[in-house]
Amino acid sequence: MSREVGVLGVDIGGTGCKAAIVDITNGKLKSERFRLDTPQPSTPENVGKTIQKIVEHFNWKGMVGFGFPAIVKNGVSHSAANIHGDWLHFNAEKYFGNLLQLPVKLTNDADAAGIAALKFGAAQNQKSTVLFLTIGTGIGSALFRDGKLIPNTEFGHLFFKEKIAEKTLSNAIRKRDKISMKKWGKMWTPYLQHLERLVNPDLIILGGGGGKKFDRFAPYLQVDTKIVAAELSNNAGIVGAAVYAYDTFAKDTTKPPSKTLQKLQSS
Ligand code: BGC
Repeated sequence: MSREVGVLGVDIGGTGCKAAIVDITNGKLKSERFRLDTPQPSTPENVGKTIQKIVEHFNWKGMVGFGFPAIVKNGVSHSAANIHGDWLHFNAEKYFGNLLQLPVKLTNDADAAGIAALKFGAAQNQKSTVLFLTIGTGIGSALFRDGKLIPNTEFGHLFFKEKIAEKTLSNAIRKRDKISMKKWGKMWTPYLQHLERLVNPDLIILGGGGGKKFDRFAPYLQVDTKIVAAELSNNAGIVGAAVYAYDTFAKDTTKPPSKTLQKLQSS
């Protein structure tokens, strides 16, 4: 029988910051979701205040996993498409850890959501190439081969039809331009076909706010690959961020297990 292990997962998006305590043994939420708007301008200082409020809301004293809408390498943010430019080459993981005085890990938001799909959702046990796309303020991507993540793929930034793909295909643009489901399906088709040719996936999963509309626009998509909606929907980013944090701390054999991890493992 597996024991419950709780980690606070926080999904920082271009529009909202969503969080919940996640049981990382089964991917279920152990608390209600809590959401605050992403502050504007979304500078490190302002976002820092928001995450402090989130942690206070849960009165959380344990490990925290963050999904972040940018390229993330070793905790450092290396892009800033839907977040303030001050995050560029900024060690966000260190900043959040110091601010909260808690053990934290940070990963790309789409990679986090993909990890959740792989562990608990549509991509569970998939031994093949899985392409996960999250459709929100931007378009994020996560690519897996035989269950292993190739991080920071950024397919939302493919230059497609002379534009950055997410600038025409994101959920935010669909809402802004009041694009019908039929038209949206037709707009998405050539982009997905292009991705099919580039990475030859065996399964495509669509998540995020746009993925929630899957049943309505999927009839207008023409792709050869099996394509499904992400089951965990909008919670995937929260769940995956928590799982990523736990797994990363657990795998770090260079340091003795932190008191927090020992406490979590014996709880
Ligand atoms: C960012 C990605 C992110 C995606 C979804 C894009 O603009 O470049 O890193 O995963 O938005 O938030």
